[in-house]
Amino acid sequence: ALVTTKEMFQKAYEGKYAIGAFNINNMEIIQAITRAAGRLGSPVILQVSKSALKYAGPGYLRRMVEAAIEETGIDVALHLDHGPDLETVKEVIEAGFTSVMFDGSHYDYEINVAKTKEVVDYAHARGVVVEAELGKLAGVEDEVKVSAADATYTDPDQAVDFVKRTGVDSLAVAIGTSHGAYKFKGEAKLDFDRLATITAKLEAAGIHNFPIVLHGASSVDPESVALCNKYGGDIKGAAGVPNEMLRKAASMAVCKINMDTDIRLAMTAAIREVFGEQPAEFDPRKYLGAARDRIEKLVEDKIKNVLGSNTK
Ligand code: G3H
Ligand code: 13P
Ligand code: ZN
Ligand code: NA
Repeated sequence: ALVTTKEMFQKAYEGKYAIGAFNINNMEIIQAITRAAGRLGSPVILQVSKSALKYAGPGYLRRMVEAAIEETGIDVALHLDHGPDLETVKEVIEAGFTSVMFDGSHYDYEINVAKTKEVVDYAHARGVVVEAELGKLAGVEDEVKVSAADATYTDPDQAVDFVKRTGVDSLAVAIGTSHGAYKFKGEAKLDFDRLATITAKLEAAGIHNFPIVLHGASSVDPESVALCNKYGGDIKGAAGVPNEMLRKAASMAVCKINMDTDIRLAMTAAIREVFGEQPAEFDPRKYLGAARDRIEKLVEDKIKNVLGSNTK
C-alpha cells in the first residue's frame, strides 16, 4: 500500500535496521526497486527531487508507483526529496505523495525553523509526514579540517531545539556524507560520535526513538564505475560511503538511507556495456532492460546485505 514512513521508521528504529530511500524518475527505475523489494518482502521509500518531478511529472510518477504497488504488494512511501519551498510541498501532496522533505539547511537557523514549521503544519493537517535538514552536507572540497567540519556538521543541541520547535517527523543530519560520486578524497570517515550524541540528547529531552536520515549515502560501487569507464565513460576519483559504515548507521538511529548516485551508476554502466558490446543494437528495451536488471541487483544487495529491511 501507499503509506507514510511513520510505521516503517518506528519498526526500523526498534529493529536496528534502515529503510532504503531510492530516487526515481522513470518506469525502469521504479520497477527495478519495487521488484527487488517485493521479492525480499521489504518496505521502501521512493523519492523524487524537484528536478525529477519536473522531468517525469507528478501524475506519471504517482500512477507508475501505484502500478508498482499493485504488482508487488509492498508498502511504499512516496516522498519529496529536498523540497525547496511550501509551493512544491503543496504540489506533491496534491499529487498524492505521503511524505515530504523540506530542505531549509542553507537558511539561517531561525529561518529554517520557521519555514520547516510552516511545512509541518501544512503537511500534518493532511496526514503527510515531514523530514527536515539541519547542518550542511559538505562537498569533498570543503571537507578538510575539523574546524570546517564543526561549522557544517549538525550541532546536537541545536538538533534537539529544532525537533522540539518544528515538530518534524525525521531529521537529516550532516555527519560527513555528501551528495554525488566524489565523497571522500582519502579515507572515508563519518562522525558516528556526533550521531550518537544527537540521539542521546533527543532521548534526554524526552524525544524517544526519533528517526535520523542519512543523505549522500551511495557507496559508489567500483565495479559500476569501472564498467562505465571501460565502455567510454570518464569517471575519475569516485568514492562513496563503504557498506560497513551504512550498516553501522542502520544499527543506530538512522532509519532512512538515501541512494541516488548508486542507481545512476548502475544504470549507466549497464547501458554503456550494451552499447559497447552490441553496437548494432538499437532497441531501447535491450539497454533499458539491462539497466533495470542491474538496478534490481543493486537494490536487492542493499536491502539484504546493508539495510536489513527484508521480511519487515
Ligand atoms: O540529493 C539530490 C538527489 O540526488 C537528486 O538530484 O536534483 O539531480 O535529481 P537531482
Ligand atoms: P547520493 O548522491 O549519495 O546517492 O545521495 C542521494 C541523496 O541524498 C538524495 O537525497
Ligand atoms: Zn539528499
Ligand atoms: Na536504524
